[in-house]
Amino acid sequence: MKAIILVGGEGTRLRPLTYSVVKPMVPVANRPFIEHVILKLAAHGINDIVLAMGYKPDSIFAYFKDGAGAGIKLSYSLEEKPLGTAGAVKNAGAHVEDTFFVLNGDTFSDIDYTYMLAFHRRNRAKATIALSHVEDPTRFGVVETKEDGRVTAFIEKPARDKVTSHWINAGVYILEPSVLDCIPGNQFFMFEKGVFPPMLDRGERVFAYTSKSYWIDMGRPSQYHQLNCDVLRGLCSSPLYRVKDITIEQGCAVHPSAHITGPAVINGGCNIAEDATITGPAVIGRNCLIGKGASISNSVLWDDIIVGAGASITGSIIASGAKIEESTRLEDLTINQEAPSDPITKKI
Ligand code: GTP
Repeated sequence: MKAIILVGGEGTRLRPLTYSVVKPMVPVANRPFIEHVILKLAAHGINDIVLAMGYKPDSIFAYFKDGAGAGIKLSYSLEEKPLGTAGAVKNAGAHVEDTFFVLNGDTFSDIDYTYMLAFHRRNRAKATIALSHVEDPTRFGVVETKEDGRVTAFIEKPARDKVTSHWINAGVYILEPSVLDCIPGNQFFMFEKGVFPPMLDRGERVFAYTSKSYWIDMGRPSQYHQLNCDVLRGLCSSPLYRVKDITIEQGCAVHPSAHITGPAVINGGCNIAEDATITGPAVIGRNCLIGKGASISNSVLWDDIIVGAGASITGSIIASGAKIEESTRLEDLTINQEAPSDPITKKI
């Protein structure tokens, strides 16, 4: 079965954390975010995957190529101009002949795609939209439904006093190919405005699949940090990560006096010096040097980072190549990689 993943347009970065690494490639537990998403689909037999994207994705091509190595057929649909969510699917779905999935490429969930597909078929739906339950729906698209699951209304980012439901559009759809006929070619078009509401007006079968499974929109650094911690704690699942207290990849040198408390994952080539402490959840990328007596807790470090002796890093995200000077204290910060000598530092 086919899935189209919307990995975004030109501006798809996890700002202010990084400018050169595109959002799909930011590491989650040391593997690209989108790799977790792709392998979750494949685990449900959805292994014909199209990445719809609006920028030159060299890093994605270089990493995934055609996906053949992982038993997945991976292809790329490029856009010459911003087409919006529905426009991008129209662009990518030229040859779709069967029921297919669409996923927003910056959300992560444990939604059971197999159950969702059975639900879609049982209802003979033309479109099924996964809904997730959130405490604060004001940043999201709220979806109202009838008891049988039929969608009755879409309310985009409701004001706090206008909230009528806590069920939001989770950015996972199952569509029949005929939905593509409702989307004009080569034009900017959004599902939430241009496609689903007119389908309701025409009385077409649009259903909501409600799920209380794990769901997160990782569009902001704080949510990206949260996702890493949740994967390590086993609060959500990924075929790429087996929950284990401490994982230390090959080629690391850990001084016997260093103290590591899980959950922690440390990638290859790291050097953890004497008396350093790492307290999970903690992710440490490839070739990092953690200096004598330094302490790292509840943080995500990417690759090639030097943490000076006695430095303390808590609740932070440090992008690749950064050098943290001796005895520095970082708390709840993101450090951008592009200017390691003068890092851009922002509160998470
Ligand atoms: P806001 O609603 O503005 O907060 O942004 P959002 O990113 O949460 O939602 P939006 O509906 O804009 O995007 C949903 C997903 O579709 C994200 O993963 C985007 O990267 C992706 N997306 C949005 N526009 C396009 C586009 O023109 N082309 C492609 N390929 N993907 C897109």
